[in-house]
Amino acid sequence: MQQQVSGFSKFSKAEKINWLITNYFNGNTQAKTLLESYWNADRKLQQLHDEFIENTISNFYMPFGVAPNFLINGKNYTLPMTIEESSVVAAASNAAKFWSTRGGFKTSVLSTTKIGHVHFMFEGDQNTLQSYFENIKPQLLEATKPLTKNMEKRGGGILDLNLIDCTSKMKHYYHLEATFETKDAMGANFINSCLEQIATTFEALSQNSPELHEHEPKVVMSILSNYVPNCVVRAEVTCKIEELTLEGHFTGAEFAEKFIQAVRIAEVEPYRAVTHNKGIMNGVDAVVIATGNDFRAVEAGVHAYAAKNGQYTSLSHAKIENDTFTFWMDLPLALGTVGGLTGLHPMVKIALELLGKPSAKELMEIVAVAGLAQNFAALRSLTTTGIQKGHMKMHLLNILNQIGATDTEKEDLILHFKTNSVSHRAVVEALKNLRD
Ligand code: MEV
Repeated sequence: MQQQVSGFSKFSKAEKINWLITNYFNGNTQAKTLLESYWNADRKLQQLHDEFIENTISNFYMPFGVAPNFLINGKNYTLPMTIEESSVVAAASNAAKFWSTRGGFKTSVLSTTKIGHVHFMFEGDQNTLQSYFENIKPQLLEATKPLTKNMEKRGGGILDLNLIDCTSKMKHYYHLEATFETKDAMGANFINSCLEQIATTFEALSQNSPELHEHEPKVVMSILSNYVPNCVVRAEVTCKIEELTLEGHFTGAEFAEKFIQAVRIAEVEPYRAVTHNKGIMNGVDAVVIATGNDFRAVEAGVHAYAAKNGQYTSLSHAKIENDTFTFWMDLPLALGTVGGLTGLHPMVKIALELLGKPSAKELMEIVAVAGLAQNFAALRSLTTTGIQKGHMKMHLLNILNQIGATDTEKEDLILHFKTNSVSHRAVVEALKNLRD
């Protein structure tokens, strides 16, 4: 059985690794050598990464790729994408190229407000609480002024504060719901600081307040919500049906019809919707991670949005009207281009520079386009050649690396598999034949 350890976070990096080697690797130092080989030679850069989290022992690489030719609202972009799945960047690039000759992507930000709550319990009369809240609301907002001053200078701040009765969901449960505009910041720290200040002031004012007749509200917690249905961007592509012709395979009308059926299936069938939306998130997460944003927050918010009407459904939609094909998606995205990792992580700085230092709104548009492009590419493959052809072609290099092919063997086998179908077994056999 492995040992418990106390004071681990106080160990030096070398001590932490030695402890792991002793306790988990039978003293074999190969793992230590590997962990150290991933350290950056630039000590300052390594220290920066060490200090992002606690107990850092090494770095974990993810590929940083780019997908060019994204025409968005008439402007060309090359998207930075951080992702390990082999086919994602290639698929994004293909979809970008395809739509760049058909008018490109159009986007618009529909709304940008975020929400946070002070959750509390109150056992007294609801009307009394409501009028008490209206009385103290200016004081609650006033208490946040030192925190909101700078954000207000940038055009953001607290937009509203309301008391919401949640007692139908849970006995004695209410919350104060604050809405925020955080401009170019994702705003999590700002929102949470404001909420905690509101909670502290709310409790302090309520103590011994004669209006509440000795029923003091008891705060449970204060936190932003990652569900952001009022921070939404729309991305769409549109073209004449005949422009969708896939030479030698489908007429534009045939392709459009099959494509729309595929989207419809994701709209009505949750099993399919989850995979369909996962494909969208392949594009979304890759750009979200590359630009230093919180992909867990985005994932949680997006999937909640996909289930907002009570059944999990497709995020994207498609239609044909007057011989015109339209494919679109509304996506809730709380993103930032200032604060957090954006000014700290050198690769994030590069990614944002590559995008022309976008505002948070522009980044919302770019990320939504990455998702729509990815979804288009996936559905095009699924409804025509099938997904494995492209997937396995991209996966070929992974297999070759895994089975230890040399550079020249790789070159020969990549050529061989241009005209042969890829499977793990086929690649192993082809390498064996080549060596024989
Ligand atoms: C794979 O990462 C993503 C797809 O499964 C998406 C989809 O099925 O639409 C190809």
